Amino acid sequence: MAFNKIWYTVALGLLLPFSYAHTDFFTSIGHMTDLINTEKDLVVSLKDYIKAEESKLEQIKKWAEKLDQLTDTATKDPEGFLGHPVNAFKLMKRLNTEWGELESLVLKDMSDGFISNMTIQRQFFPNDEDQTGAAKALLRLQDTYNLDTDTLSRGNLPDPEHQRANGNMKYFEYIMAKEKEANKSSTDSEDQMEKETEVKKKDYLPERRKYEMLCRGEGLKMTPRRQKRLFCRYYDGNRNPRYILGPVKQEDEWDKPRIVRFLDIISDEEIETVKELAKPRLSRATVHDPETGKLTTAHYRVSKSAWLSGYESPVVSRINTRIQDLTGLDVSTAEELQVANYGVGGQYEPHFDFARKDEPDAFKELGTGNRIATWLFYMSDVSAGGATVFPEVGASVWPKKGTAVFWYNLFPSGEGDYSTRHAACPVLVGNKWVSNKWLHERGQEFRRPCALSELE
Ligand code: OGA
Ligand code: FE2
Repeated sequence: MAFNKIWYTVALGLLLPFSYAHTDFFTSIGHMTDLINTEKDLVVSLKDYIKAEESKLEQIKKWAEKLDQLTDTATKDPEGFLGHPVNAFKLMKRLNTEWGELESLVLKDMSDGFISNMTIQRQFFPNDEDQTGAAKALLRLQDTYNLDTDTLSRGNLPDPEHQRANGNMKYFEYIMAKEKEANKSSTDSEDQMEKETEVKKKDYLPERRKYEMLCRGEGLKMTPRRQKRLFCRYYDGNRNPRYILGPVKQEDEWDKPRIVRFLDIISDEEIETVKELAKPRLSRATVHDPETGKLTTAHYRVSKSAWLSGYESPVVSRINTRIQDLTGLDVSTAEELQVANYGVGGQYEPHFDFARKDEPDAFKELGTGNRIATWLFYMSDVSAGGATVFPEVGASVWPKKGTAVFWYNLFPSGEGDYSTRHAACPVLVGNKWVSNKWLHERGQEFRRPCALSELE
């Protein structure tokens, strides 16, 4: 038995690292739903173990009761008792074999099944890094959305209907208290203190305040005069034959930079297909390290993403064509369709989509120039949080399933438009799915971009 267990563990240890690389769970809800199922299986296994342990104890109890009566009778009149030959024989038999059998039963390990299941499932468990990540996500939410610990623990979140999130609140409270404690004790040394002030200073950009306000929906409102110049219309992609008979709904979200939203622009079926294609490939999103020019993971971008090519699915190809028709921009020089999934606390802090002058090599490998424009599909509604915000200008764009937003990152001269700096706010309640297409400069030279042509 013991040998078997050891062999099993060794075999697992050898096989699993190759087939299942560890992924950061807290960055995406998709992977966390797997964990919930894992836990459910483990409970079943644990209950089986309890049953086995109970039946074992039941057998031991019965033996004890039987022997209790027997020894009672025997001790009252030992000689008379042993005068009966069968009693003498039974005494020999009990002591020679039956007590030994009982001993084996007492020593018997009933936990094998449960422990094997644990050994298997533990390979998929979150690690310390995941736990810290989840705790940090909570602190981030508290900061961004001005929630006090009480609000969080009582579950008085903006969306009171969201039962599942509320159920976790007691645990949240505990984690937050622990995290605070950990921060306190780590500030003991002066070194540490200095380091933390430095981080705070660096982190406390005036932009952060603005960013967080916009995330809470406290953006400065546009003047009515400006607001009146935002319209909605039916749009045919500048007389694109595919849209003349069935134009799409287009709404102005902002004037400068010009941000438009397309409504009912991706169907629920298409969204499902895109999500299913992306799910097995989701991995922690990366960013360009401006110093090395390499891709790395960063705390300011917490989401999982995958890239889908138009060649692998007619749905993706159809989506690419739609973007080309409606923007008038060549998608053959665009990047693949990126699908991103933000779990609770998932975010992307303020950034530019285009490469700045001081990092001219960022898209060099692609050979297609800078990111001229961004197309962003919202593939889910988000219960609370998760807006796309533009802190330079004060715009908040709220996710709405089936819609897409589009803006130019570069001026016609090729200069970057710094007012397009934007962020994906942390998700407070729910699960945010988006997909985006970054269109590049090459291929657009002889085109007349049309999505924003009625501008000015
Ligand atoms: C991005 C981005 C915004 C969002 O992926 O570059 O800015 O709301 N996303 O997800
Ligand atoms: Fe972006």
